[in-house]
Amino acid sequence: MAAFRPNVILSAAISVDGKIATKTGDSALSSLVDKKRLHKLRSSVDAILVGKNTVLHDDPLLTVRYTDGKNPIRIVLDSLGQIPIDSQIIKTCHKIQTIIAVSEKIPKKNLNRLSKFPLDIVISGKNRVDIKKLLEILGKSKIKTILLEGGGATNWDFVNQGLVDQAIITVTPFLIGGKDAKTLVDGDGSSKISHSLRLKLKKIKRQNNEVVLYYN
Ligand SMILES: NC(=O)c1ccc[n+]([C@@H]2O[C@H](COP(=O)([O-])OP(=O)(O)OC[C@H]3O[C@@H](n4cnc5c(N)ncnc54)[C@H](OP(=O)(O)O)[C@@H]3O)[C@@H](O)[C@H]2O)c1
Repeated sequence: MAAFRPNVILSAAISVDGKIATKTGDSALSSLVDKKRLHKLRSSVDAILVGKNTVLHDDPLLTVRYTDGKNPIRIVLDSLGQIPIDSQIIKTCHKIQTIIAVSEKIPKKNLNRLSKFPLDIVISGKNRVDIKKLLEILGKSKIKTILLEGGGATNWDFVNQGLVDQAIITVTPFLIGGKDAKTLVDGDGSSKISHSLRLKLKKIKRQNNEVVLYYN
């Protein structure tokens, strides 16, 4: 029998042309209404997961602020344990449970640096975080639902390994352009439409000048 793994909901705000940030990494796409919707969603899941570059670019808190509700556990994929100690996530880890998912390749120096903080360090994968293994480990704890909040490289790894169960995507009214701007799902991408993840549209919500798409 396959091991239990948490339910993964891919969540993002995208431009009409499918970007999640500009070429310089500006990702301020969402309206206040959408932030409130997202934060309500955050308060309903057990954990939020992002890749290391999202922390480096956005320095997010990944908390519930625009509505009342509990903060989910925060998970950062960071194979070598390079997350800056002056990032908002590390600065608040004594108040909000935080998991840094690293690989076996993490240098001792970085492991020691992170060990000084009240963080949970979960090791999976030889050179890079093995997300299947990570989800198995998380599934054995109290984490049953994960909101996958990007960026494009992390989203691809989950999509490519068949680990996305639902998607909630806000289409914001911007056309960003730029071949180097990050898209919702980056990585190598599929070579054929027939090999791509095909989602099922469940619901559409119009939100002023935005549209929220619900898939599973
Ligand atoms: N609009 C939105 O909703 C939204 C949301 C989130 C992010 N963003 C934007 O997205 C951009 C960052 O996206 P990104 O694609 O550059 O990076 P990312 O997905 O945030 O982070 C990728 C990094 O995560 C680490 N990682 C560890 N294990 C991994 C695994 N199994 N699969 C994938 N990554 C793994 C890798 O670094 P190591 O190899 O060092 O571990 C990898 O380079 C930022 O500009 C941010 O503003 C937008």
